[in-house]
Amino acid sequence: MGNSAIQPVGAETATPATVSSLVRVTGLRKHYGGVRALKGVDLDLRAGEIHGLVGANGAGKSTLIKILAGLESPDAGEISVDGTPVSIATPDQATALGLSFIHQELNLVPRMSALQNIMLGVPKASTLGLVDWRRVRQLVQPIATRVGIRFSLETPAAALSVAEGWLVSICRALVRRSRLIVMDEPTASLSAHECDNLFRIVRDLSGNGVAVLYVSHRLDEITGLCHHVTAFRDGLLAAQIDRASLNRARLVEAIVGTDKPETFALAAANVIAPESDEIALSVRNLRRGSAVRDVSFDLHKGEVLGLGGLVGSGRSETVRLIFGADAMQGGQMTLCGRAFTPRTPHDAVEAGVGLVPEERRSEGLVLAKSVAFNLSLTSLLGLHVAPPLPLMSMRRRDKQAQEMSQRLLIKMPNVATPVGRLSGGNQQKVVIGKWLSRSLRVLILDEPSRGVDIGARQEIHRIIRELATQGVSIIVISSETEELPGLCDRVLVMVEGRIATELRGAAITREALVQASYLSTEESQPS
Ligand SMILES: Nc1ncnc2c1ncn2[C@@H]1O[C@H](COP(=O)(O)OP(=O)(O)OP(=O)(O)O)[C@@H](O)[C@H]1O
Ligand SMILES: [Mg+2]
Repeated sequence: MGNSAIQPVGAETATPATVSSLVRVTGLRKHYGGVRALKGVDLDLRAGEIHGLVGANGAGKSTLIKILAGLESPDAGEISVDGTPVSIATPDQATALGLSFIHQELNLVPRMSALQNIMLGVPKASTLGLVDWRRVRQLVQPIATRVGIRFSLETPAAALSVAEGWLVSICRALVRRSRLIVMDEPTASLSAHECDNLFRIVRDLSGNGVAVLYVSHRLDEITGLCHHVTAFRDGLLAAQIDRASLNRARLVEAIVGTDKPETFALAAANVIAPESDEIALSVRNLRRGSAVRDVSFDLHKGEVLGLGGLVGSGRSETVRLIFGADAMQGGQMTLCGRAFTPRTPHDAVEAGVGLVPEERRSEGLVLAKSVAFNLSLTSLLGLHVAPPLPLMSMRRRDKQAQEMSQRLLIKMPNVATPVGRLSGGNQQKVVIGKWLSRSLRVLILDEPSRGVDIGARQEIHRIIRELATQGVSIIVISSETEELPGLCDRVLVMVEGRIATELRGAAITREALVQASYLSTEESQPS
């Protein structure tokens, strides 16, 4: 999202080929048991370069990053920094070499202040052996201001938003004078505005000679931002693309291979089903704290309804009320004409309402259990399936799991593999898959594409449309402005806990969504 604001860096800013390597990786191999995560990959990073790293879920991106960070050791291959071979056995060694990592789950210490987090592990100015925090703050403040930190450095990390946490992590990297900052899917939890700020910082870092390794499944960001791109496919180097030949088609080809060309999202004209008059879910004056102030809408049978808006506009909070995950403080709901008052998610599931949560790893999976177990998890939540013979049910379960895994291209040895061994994006697919394979009246998906590669996104969209045709009513939340057009029949844009704008059919465009997201509630009260 916010991609509309990405300005191409332009050929003149491309790093000259004459600049020698900062970090060079050659022939890197790594296996986990029988899984060959990296089969001999190369990567060449130069000072001041914004280097994109792309590849389908499970291609090996995070494995490479973990090796550079000193969290995993490679089976074979060489890493050199400034032309000298190095071994990175611990995170401290990576730091000493000037490498910093911002992983998707930010590892800030919640009860410590922003400043303390920034200074963790860095030698601090001291007077008579005591840390002189005043002096430390004076040193850090200009750097904080440069990355756009507007809040007090005394704020505890627990009180920071995800975007603010990112700024703290970037600041931490700069205080350590990092020469390379690795960002793993930085924009996944940021709003359009916060993304723009991040892009500005990344360009600024690059201008100051810092190299950035940027991992993303959002191809517009990659084409807009990067000087150079490396693509992995199945643990192998698939392509190295420079700025001059960088475009979306080239990226898609590198990621999925030429034999599977991208079939773009269904044209809007095909998507819009004749509107059913039947109302599946009716929501009136829903309220909870300041997050959900007054939300009313009807969801029709077989409709795909999008919820757009900025991160924090109240969308996730609204659907949590519908799913019984939080208690509402006001309002009424009906489901297929009957009063609907779920007090727990269990109630909601019993009534035929499912939710694919935004925070999937923590809320949706049992990491130690198999893919097949996790895919069938919702049935344990109380969907009444007549219990067949135990043996039969296991076989049926595995067969269904197999089918869903194939559709969503879940990369794994087999359905008995523990989910915890899957790559981040493949874990996301399992959570989505378990809900897609249920029979439900209403299915809610919160950020379904987050962390999921381009091939699986299309398949998820196809399944959503298929379910809608079968009469399932669907709510999709997405902060990626590219996702809702072409997928939804109708989109409601939320601003500050209220529905501000309704868009239908061809009027659902990226521009309209961005514009509506920034309207203030006063000027946008629906007439
Ligand atoms: N601890 C582990 N045990 C077993 N297999 C693993 C482990 N970690 C990663 N793998 C496997 O290694 C392969 C590469 O995973 P990796 O996490 O590097 O992918 P990725 O490119 O980062 O994908 P994503 O886009 O989904 O984050 C995958 O097949 C994954 O299942
Ligand atoms: Mg990963």
